[in-house]
Amino acid sequence: MLSDPRFDSLSSAPARQPQALEADAPLLRLTGVSKTYLAGEVAVHALADVDLSISRGEYLALMGPSGSGKSTLMHILGCLDTPTSGTYVLDGQDVSKLDELELAWIRNQLVGFVFQQFHLLGRQTAARNVELPLLYAGVRSRAERNARTQAALAAVGMADRTEHRPNQLSGGQQQRVAIARALVTDPAIILADEPTGNLGSDQTDEVLEIFHGLHQQGRTVILITHEPDVAGRARRLISVRDGRVVADEPVTR
Ligand SMILES: Nc1ncnc2c1ncn2[C@@H]1O[C@H](COP(=O)(O)OP(=O)(O)OP(=O)(O)O)[C@@H](O)[C@H]1O
Ligand SMILES: [Mg+2]
Repeated sequence: MLSDPRFDSLSSAPARQPQALEADAPLLRLTGVSKTYLAGEVAVHALADVDLSISRGEYLALMGPSGSGKSTLMHILGCLDTPTSGTYVLDGQDVSKLDELELAWIRNQLVGFVFQQFHLLGRQTAARNVELPLLYAGVRSRAERNARTQAALAAVGMADRTEHRPNQLSGGQQQRVAIARALVTDPAIILADEPTGNLGSDQTDEVLEIFHGLHQQGRTVILITHEPDVAGRARRLISVRDGRVVADEPVTR
């Protein structure tokens, strides 16, 4: 997809290369990670003793039955949540015990999220939705925010819809705006929780083309899916069952 002019603006700005302590250390490393939720008297073991290493630039799919712990795992990988026990080292830093403010900063700097339900702000234009992470990141120059917002929207083929609000866009267009929002901070890691779950097959293909382009740029892409076709586009497939990683294999095609 790099030959597509829509990606020029992004491919000319390679994904940030955070400093790792060891050159070949994994970008993300979970060791003995468990997550237990307490719902009233009942303890739900959403993750149980997960060991997982992911290197910079991998394209990975997570599959498993409903309730198996995929979203919980992604929330921990993306610093939206912390493990109950075990350690999580992200880009050389132990993030298992950081507080909410520190986690928010790491998310903003390193991670872009894409969700099944898009999660765009309904009253804001596409451009405003995409600009918001730059405001959180402290990019003060309006001209720079505008330029980066327009480049991110252009990179997903949405340059001609910047002033539309979400209810004026199709589902696939909304998801592309959400991907632009995930990309605008130039994160090393893209995490997507069933990003094509609400899309038809043409729109799914468009979104997968974009993820493929991000992978080719050297970003680390991790997506959850229930669709074997979608998982088949990744390079590595992790299967989760009852909170455990039960298979970890390269994708053959
Ligand atoms: N905040 C929470 N409080 C209590 N239990 C939770 C919470 N979040 C998730 N769980 C439980 O943890 C388990 C794993 O949930 P998770 O959302 O990770 O599953 P999933 O694999 O993403 O499923 P799906 O495919 O349906 O999205 C489930 O049994 C769920 O009910
Ligand atoms: Mg889920």
